Order: sequence, then C-alpha cells, then structure tokens
Amino acid sequence: MRVRIGILGLAGILAIALGQMAGCGGSPDRTGQVTVRVAVWKANNPDAWKEALRIFHQSHPGIHVELEIGPNSSTQLHDLITQRLRNRDLSLDAFLMDVIWPPEFAAAGWALALDDRFSPEERAGFFPGCIEAVTFDGSIYGIPFNTDSGLFFCRSDLLEGHGLRPPTTWPEMIRQIEIIRRAEENPGLHGFSAQFKQYVGLICNMLEFVRSNGGCMTSPASPQAIEAVTFIRDKIIGTVAPRGVLTYEEQESLDLFKSGGAIFLRSWPYAWKILNDKQHSQIAGRVSIARLPTFKDGMSAAALGGWSFGIHSRSRHPEEAWAFIRFMTSPRMQCHFARLAGKAPARRALYSDPDVLTSNPHFAEMLAVFETATPRPRSPIYPRISHILQRYFHEAISNPKSDIVALARDAERRIQDEIDMIQQTAP
Ligand code: GLC
Repeated sequence: MRVRIGILGLAGILAIALGQMAGCGGSPDRTGQVTVRVAVWKANNPDAWKEALRIFHQSHPGIHVELEIGPNSSTQLHDLITQRLRNRDLSLDAFLMDVIWPPEFAAAGWALALDDRFSPEERAGFFPGCIEAVTFDGSIYGIPFNTDSGLFFCRSDLLEGHGLRPPTTWPEMIRQIEIIRRAEENPGLHGFSAQFKQYVGLICNMLEFVRSNGGCMTSPASPQAIEAVTFIRDKIIGTVAPRGVLTYEEQESLDLFKSGGAIFLRSWPYAWKILNDKQHSQIAGRVSIARLPTFKDGMSAAALGGWSFGIHSRSRHPEEAWAFIRFMTSPRMQCHFARLAGKAPARRALYSDPDVLTSNPHFAEMLAVFETATPRPRSPIYPRISHILQRYFHEAISNPKSDIVALARDAERRIQDEIDMIQQTAP
C-alpha cells in the first residue's frame, strides 16, 4: 500500500510532504477502498508517521488514509482547520486537536461526540488531564494522542564544568548564566531560549512564570502575575535571552539551543530526541532535563499541552475515521511515537514500558510533572481570551518601558467583557 498525501492548501507551508519523503508518487489501486482525510501538523519525525501509516494500511486494507499536512505551529494549524470547518468542507474526516481546541470544536458542532465509542473503561487508561481536555458539557470529543508539559533542558556539560546543578529558581538561573558566560568568554553563548512570539505558545511560557510566582492567568493584574511579567521583561528579554526570542516559536528556540547557542531551553518532551540526534544536533549527549525553575516561594509549574484526534461531525466516513484514530492512539502507537519521536504518551501505563523508558529515560522522573501540568482555561471562547492575553503579554515584555500594570488591567477588563458577552448570549 502506498501513501498519497493531500495538502491543506496554504502555499509555502509544505516544505516537506510526507508523500515525497516516502518516495511516493503513483496513485495506489484503491478499488473498493474508503479514503479518509486527516489534517495533522508537519511532523518533526516524518519517518515515525510513515511507518505508522504503513502498519495501519496493512491491517486495514479497506481504508486508505490521506494525511493533509499543515504547519507545525498550533496557531496556524488552528486557523487552517477551523477555516475548512467553517466552510463545511466535507472532504475533511478527522483532525488533530491541540489540547485547547475541543471546547471550541464541540460548541461549534465541528467535532463528533465519541461517547458511544470511547468507553469510560478505556478513558481510565489515559491521564485524567488529557481526558478533561477532550470533554465538554459532559461529552467526549477526542482521543488523546500525546501529552505535553513544559520541561527545562540544560547543557549538562556546562553545568558540570562549572560545578553547578540545574537551577531551581528563576533568579538562580540568571546567576548561573552570568557565571557560565563570564567564564566561557563566548559571545555567541546566550543564557536562555524559549518561545516569546505572539502566538498560543507564548501563553504556555507566561503561564509557567506566572503560576510559579503564585499568580493566575485569568487575573493578569494580580501582584504576583505583574511581578512575574516584570521579571521576564527586565531580567530575561534582551539580557539572558536574545531579543530575538520575541519572535521565537518552538522551532527557532530549539534551533538556538541545538546549535550550542544557549545554556538553558524551555521546550516540550519531543525536543529530547531532536537534541540528542547526533546527525543534526551539535550538543547531542550533553543535555539534561529538569523541572522548570520557580520563584522563591512558588511551586514549579509546567503548562499542559498535548494533542488528540477528533472526527469531523460532517464526515461521510465516521466509522473508518474512528478506526484510524483508535489505531493512532492505541498503546502500540503511543509507544511507537514515544520511541521514534519522543512524544510523551497520554496513556499512563506506558510510563513503565521498558521500550518507552529506554528511549526516553527522563520520562520516569518527569511522570509527576506530566500528571500535574497546569491546563490553560477550558472554554469555547478560549481562542478570544488567548488573543487578548497574547497581545498583552507580548506588548508588556517587548517594550522595556511598558506600563505593565495599565496593560494588565486593560487585558483583565477585556477578558471580563468577553465573559459577560457570552453570559448575556447564553440561552
Ligand atoms: C505544543 C503543545 C500544545 C501547545 C503548543 C504551543 O504543541 O502540545 O498544547 O498549544 O505547543 O505552541
């Protein structure tokens, strides 16, 4: 069975289509087959997807899956998929959903409720946070594919070389960076790399600072939240982190660290595989993982991320789409993606699987982090709240003279307006 890959239609985003990498081109003989089209992001490890599809096609000869590969960025993929769903595009059968999308997709009627198919017994095998994320108004709209939580990647060689242990507080991180940079005398070595561009990932990074100072995302004007944002503006951006981080999503932040250009990186579990890939990383074997630092009296906080598969409510092939998403989220496939792509399984039992742990030794220690990761607000209007917060945070940390208190109060008022509006329009 050959794999033919469709395209999500945004010019320029498909630098590498899975089909090309698979060396595919010809049209497979699909007589009698049902074609299921699934929208996914551009994978960091396309070989893992290629192999998963090969196994699926082998075991499901009546179904042909076409992956429609979108951008890697969650923000861009969201815009692309929701545009198609708004246009009632019947050619789309299933999609990956970021952990923050299901309430919106459910409320809009875009995602099929899976209550009859995805039993409570089966749900019990997944992390509760992943199940909550796909549940809306008492129904379930997706099967978790992987979980994510913010992790702190360190250059172990540099820490050891200077007699240091991974920092436990943000101010300690800054002191360590100063010590290492002074001693290394390498002007190209930055201290910290993370994702501070205005997009959904910014919220995850900010949440970790705000929560670890005892603040809350939906009260941006609280003293704890203001203090955390001020710390980022004054002590991180343009000092221990290059100003360029204001334009970084995951890829750019990873590239800086991978090329040996930073001492610390905030990223997601999959980064482990990429950073230790000897062919493409200059720091393979010189990376360790720790919990994200905190503020003096706070608790380390990691944002909850992750992805699930959902079925388009208008799909003409819901049974076949179900067969595919069930397969992709099975224990076997979650193990496969953990081994080959460093994806943290959403199924708890896999954290004692020897294959998973051999390829991701940090999973054992980070299990508690995955289990207690902090979710972003769960609401159908989350995209609007996220936009308000993204604009606020980005403005607050980009301008060294920003009036953070005034900006935060304005953001808080706008969030309240959104909430009031939805309450007024509720039946
Ligand atoms: C990762 C997370 C996702 C998050 C995104 C932000 O893909 O899994 O939940 O929204 O990063 O960029």
